[in-house]
Amino acid sequence: MMNCFLDGTKIMKITSAEFITSVYPKDGFPPDRYPEVAFAGRSNVGKSSLINTLVNRKGLARTSSAPGKTQSINFYVVNKSFCLVDLPGYGYAKVPQQVRKQWSPFIEQYCTSRESLRGVVAIIDARVGPTPLDVSLIAWLKGLSLPIIFTLTKSDKLSKNKLVQALHQTAKSLSVKPDQIVSFSSQTGEGKKRLWQEILRLVGRTEP
Ligand code: GTP
Ligand code: MG
Repeated sequence: MMNCFLDGTKIMKITSAEFITSVYPKDGFPPDRYPEVAFAGRSNVGKSSLINTLVNRKGLARTSSAPGKTQSINFYVVNKSFCLVDLPGYGYAKVPQQVRKQWSPFIEQYCTSRESLRGVVAIIDARVGPTPLDVSLIAWLKGLSLPIIFTLTKSDKLSKNKLVQALHQTAKSLSVKPDQIVSFSSQTGEGKKRLWQEILRLVGRTEP
């Protein structure tokens, strides 16, 4: 069972995955050298874990069981060909107000000004479904005409039936079709192949 999910690696041979830089609100972004796809979602939803799973590197993006781990925008270049961009999580109430206030304008600035940004992977917890904050961020991204890859993660935490229900409810809240949503798990590798296919399409690359 697990092996068939891990076959996602077959679509995408990772020859290199390197950290480029971490950017904080007052820093400038790195040069627009590669097409890039960004990963957005609530704190603790599993954005950094998902990036690590995609590139088969456990510790490339820092992860934590405590929310609010990623507070900078982190750029990773894959196969010296395109970038995966880990965004800070939003919606975590315990982060000091001062820090929290900066997140939204920071993510906004990145999404509106980044020429090389080809699309956003919007990540939602399969157990929770889209929160009002997810819905409003996704509506805002749609308004920018940025392609969005909808992903329900932590699918390993749900039974098959509950997962199908979650896909339908999420599709309804986001006004998309259930088959437009990728169900994903960083633990089992489920959804990895499909997510790579969609990311490669956005960055205009095929398997090297
Ligand atoms: P911030 O950087 O705080 O915004 O969080 P994040 O969205 O990057 O989440 P992160 O990848 O750090 O993961 C948060 C927690 O969820 C960690 O304890 C992970 O091990 C766990 N986690 C992430 N993805 C999965 C998954 O697919 N399944 C399960 N069961 N746990 C997961
Ligand atoms: Mg993170």
